[in-house]
Amino acid sequence: MVVAILPAAGKGERLGESLPKQFLDLKGIPLLVRTLLAFEKAPQIDGIIIATHPLYLEHTENLIKSFNLRKVLKIVEGGTTRQRSVYQAVKIAPLETEVFLVHDAVRPFVPESLIKRVIEATRSYGASVPAIPVRDTLNLVKDHLVKANVPRENLFHIQTPQGIKANLLKTCLDEAIARGLEFTDESSLLTYFGHPVYVVEGSWLNFKITFKEDLILAEKLIDCKIE
Ligand code: CTP
Ligand code: MG
Repeated sequence: MVVAILPAAGKGERLGESLPKQFLDLKGIPLLVRTLLAFEKAPQIDGIIIATHPLYLEHTENLIKSFNLRKVLKIVEGGTTRQRSVYQAVKIAPLETEVFLVHDAVRPFVPESLIKRVIEATRSYGASVPAIPVRDTLNLVKDHLVKANVPRENLFHIQTPQGIKANLLKTCLDEAIARGLEFTDESSLLTYFGHPVYVVEGSWLNFKITFKEDLILAEKLIDCKIE
């Protein structure tokens, strides 16, 4: 069984709207629902668990009902960090879960081919993440002065969904929480504990909506029907 976990308990502070960004309307459909629909449509996904802020539990439940999202198994209260939100979801996942796919609730344009690629690599290697190569020149800058150039051949932007065999994610999260360690994603968590994470090709369309500009870009993409 493959279960997608959608951490959606953030506040969207960098975007700066009073409503957290995952609930903002994106051309008639809330952002969170657009992301959920990508997983509803993917035949490889058996179930979805959403972690949401306690204040938005009811709102999230209503969205699931009104958009008739059938794969959602459960909505849990998220935590104060992304890692804690993921942990809450992992704890209540069905025992038959073999693979978890953790996906930021604010990456609505994840292609189905990418979901498939991550699941296949996770089954073979234990864990897998999508990544795209850094495209700009990278420099070390201090006090408005360029101090050095950083070679970018081996530098990648890591995206989601991040695939991990269920027991491996549980064990690593238990250990991190017990030791008070905090990681921004599962690839950093697994790497810290020495587990290999296989990198597959990501997608430029699979960007995370973080700033206002990303929201504008997302609306244009929907207009162009590139998704
Ligand atoms: N997230 C979460 N629980 C938290 C913090 C973040 O579930 N305590 C989720 C967000 O809802 C989002 C994903 O993790 O789907 C990636 O986080 P990010 O883009 O940083 O979202 P926010 O934390 O909401 O935004 P910001 O950092 O700008 O406040
Ligand atoms: Mg955040």
